[in-house]
Amino acid sequence: MSLLIKNGEIVTADSRYHADIYVENETVTRIGKDLESSPGTEIIEAGDKLIFPGFIDPHVHVYLPFMATFAKDTHETASIAALVGGTTTYIEMCCPSRMDDTLEGYHLWKSKAEGNSACDYTFHMAVTKFAGNTEAQLREIVSDGICSFKIFLAYKNFFGIDDGEMYQTLALARRLGVIVTAHCENAEIIARLQESLLAEGKAGPEWHEPSRPESVEAEGTNRFATFLEHTGASGYVVHLSCEAALKAALSARERGVKIHVESVVPHLLLDKSYAERQGLAGMEYVMSPPLRDKRNQNVLWNALSAQLIDTVATDHCPFDKEQKLLGKEAFTQIPNGIPGIEERVNLLYTCGVNRGRLDLHRFVDAASTRAAKLFGLFPRKGTIAIGSDADLVVYDLAYRGALSAKTQHSNNDYNAFEGFEIEGRPSVVTVRGKIQVRDGEFVGDRKLGRLLKREPQYF
Ligand code: URP
Ligand code: ZN
Ligand code: ZN
Repeated sequence: MSLLIKNGEIVTADSRYHADIYVENETVTRIGKDLESSPGTEIIEAGDKLIFPGFIDPHVHVYLPFMATFAKDTHETASIAALVGGTTTYIEMCCPSRMDDTLEGYHLWKSKAEGNSACDYTFHMAVTKFAGNTEAQLREIVSDGICSFKIFLAYKNFFGIDDGEMYQTLALARRLGVIVTAHCENAEIIARLQESLLAEGKAGPEWHEPSRPESVEAEGTNRFATFLEHTGASGYVVHLSCEAALKAALSARERGVKIHVESVVPHLLLDKSYAERQGLAGMEYVMSPPLRDKRNQNVLWNALSAQLIDTVATDHCPFDKEQKLLGKEAFTQIPNGIPGIEERVNLLYTCGVNRGRLDLHRFVDAASTRAAKLFGLFPRKGTIAIGSDADLVVYDLAYRGALSAKTQHSNNDYNAFEGFEIEGRPSVVTVRGKIQVRDGEFVGDRKLGRLLKREPQYF
């Protein structure tokens, strides 16, 4: 099956030009002017549309037992939402808890996704304890092609690890050539603050942010960076939300620590006033690290533009209204998470590129190429080049619309970006040359997605 995309304007992280793209056997085989097609080739006329490499979301939760419930999506609903929004590959956090066996957890997550995703995916393997058999199990998981770990400094007694375990994980990662992603917040201080706030009767969602202030995230980021420095491992701070934490990461980078930074769409576009809304309306905006004071947004956008922040992910983690109400008596029981896998690319394009905050190439880099490079997927993913997988997004700049729970594909009953206007959207999306989205609608194969196996990288 071959495909010819004619007359589009190709935009990658470092180039922009008009050309046709020819796809055979899942990969791009020719790029050039006026390409001829063989009989039976499907032709897409791209006209004046841009063609981006498939976008990569490097931080999502699909299957997730967490806070006495389960995140709402299946791999089918999350992957279709991803594709409609232009994301052709996602990296899911594989998160067995401290009480679970790591290897069993890996096989469980793998079995949930296998044959159920419409787009390609891989995992960051969470290390939620470091017991006698952990090294052997992690070696087995890495040899199965999962070459990135995840650690949590928060979520005490569930996902969280202590400093000794962090050191052992990073030292092993360094030996294996595996990058370690980290949720950086100080679990101990959070536990104390939660306790004292609740004791004062401060139980609503507006107290979630004060229970995890910026200094708590800065401390976690600084500690992670210090451990990277002493182990020589390569690290990646997930969902960095504020200036104080950014300063900690950048100061480490200045002294040669191999540390990378991710921000997520909620922290770029939403602020703590959303979580300060009364009752359920506020609970819908509870995530960790929390939505911050608005002054942080400019700092994050500027750092993103200057490449000080590497990537933009979502931390997609949908809980519906009924689940959020688990926390109606105490903010500490509100399932943490905000969905966004479908909205990320369009919001970043509209609020970033169209508002002059982000150069078009930096947009492609932050939403696709940089993640491919950091997580061992490049150049198979993250660019448009001969030999790369034909994951292509034909982007319609003329589209105008608004985001809404009524039209979303994620399995949830609210949309955190309800009413946000978007200027542009994917009209055609292909995964390895197969058309999965046409005219903005999913039309493809629900089981097309494959687990992407990766090689260790020595940074
Ligand atoms: O609130 C969040 N971020 N929920 C998902 C779990 C995590 O910390 O990434
Ligand atoms: Zn997290
Ligand atoms: Zn997360």
